Amino acid sequence: MDKKEFGKKLKNIRIRNKMSQQAMADSLGYTSRSTINKIEEGINEMSHDKILRLMEIYGLSRPDLGLEPLCGDKLSGLRKDAKYPNPEIEEICYIKNCVSNPNIVVGDYSYYDDKKGADLFEKHVTHHYDFIGDKLIIGKFCQIGAGVEFIMNGANHFMNGLTTYPFNIFSRDLQKFTPSLDKMPIKGDTVIGNDVWIGQNVTILPGVHIGDGAVIGANSVVGSDIPPYTIAVGNPCRVIKKRFDDKTIEKLLNLKWWDYPIEAIEQNIDNLFNGNLDELELSLKK
Ligand SMILES: CC(C)(COP(=O)(O)OP(=O)(O)OC[C@H]1O[C@@H](n2cnc3c(N)ncnc32)[C@H](O)[C@@H]1OP(=O)(O)O)[C@@H](O)C(=O)NCCC(=O)NCCS
Repeated sequence: MDKKEFGKKLKNIRIRNKMSQQAMADSLGYTSRSTINKIEEGINEMSHDKILRLMEIYGLSRPDLGLEPLCGDKLSGLRKDAKYPNPEIEEICYIKNCVSNPNIVVGDYSYYDDKKGADLFEKHVTHHYDFIGDKLIIGKFCQIGAGVEFIMNGANHFMNGLTTYPFNIFSRDLQKFTPSLDKMPIKGDTVIGNDVWIGQNVTILPGVHIGDGAVIGANSVVGSDIPPYTIAVGNPCRVIKKRFDDKTIEKLLNLKWWDYPIEAIEQNIDNLFNGNLDELELSLKK
């Protein structure tokens, strides 16, 4: 390994990910930022284990680091721990690796695509307050377009009075009028299934459940539940068609291809694309 060349590449990766040396040290399990500094300066070498971790987290291949490809590194083509799954496409982030709120729970490989800042996904989850405790739960392999808004329960005003105006939040003196949570229109968690495609600028209202494999058309406003494997569009968002016949939908829902090991899924991309459900099932269950 050419230590100086490697160091330069590491520094570029760190800068591209907008990280300090300490943040990168933390992500790779080094205690001190000076280790990263020494590697960047070409003084120290990075161990094989750490290189694997670096590739996994930052979605890199060995050639990205100026290293010869090696057999047996056992990395899948998809790197679930990467922030940017394809380092050349900064507008796509794996959501799980960009959110810090524990009430946003996201499965592996679900991504947000936004050239204004894919890593800012959390800003698209609004009125999400700890004291309410509602969760946004998103499954695996979801595809979420730019400008989506998940409006959470804290957005809903008290509606049992003569006004919906929230006087209590504007002054300490008026806090005594804060309605108790059981009087608020709280609709529960927002739950998005697996392999759900949400088009650009979709708004999802509190408490909505969207089933596995559903497609939500661009600019839709989703106020009620959307069944699995349907296509739904508009405001209010309504189902316009099913993606498959009922028998196929049932089989897909039972199979849950997204729960299989990533290597098995990658071996079946042909079957997933070409609709060979029987072959997909046979191959996954082998
Ligand atoms: C929903 C979508 C996937 C199309 O699905 P489709 O099965 O091919 O649907 P069609 O184009 O045949 O449209 C069916 C009907 O729904 C309407 N429709 C489609 N998308 C719509 C939308 N987003 N809002 C309102 N109506 C829509 C069509 O006008 C058509 O209406 P009609 O039957 O009265 O003519 C597509 O329109 C869409 O919204 N894609 C999202 C793209 C995006 O935002 N990607 C982000 C990158 S991740």
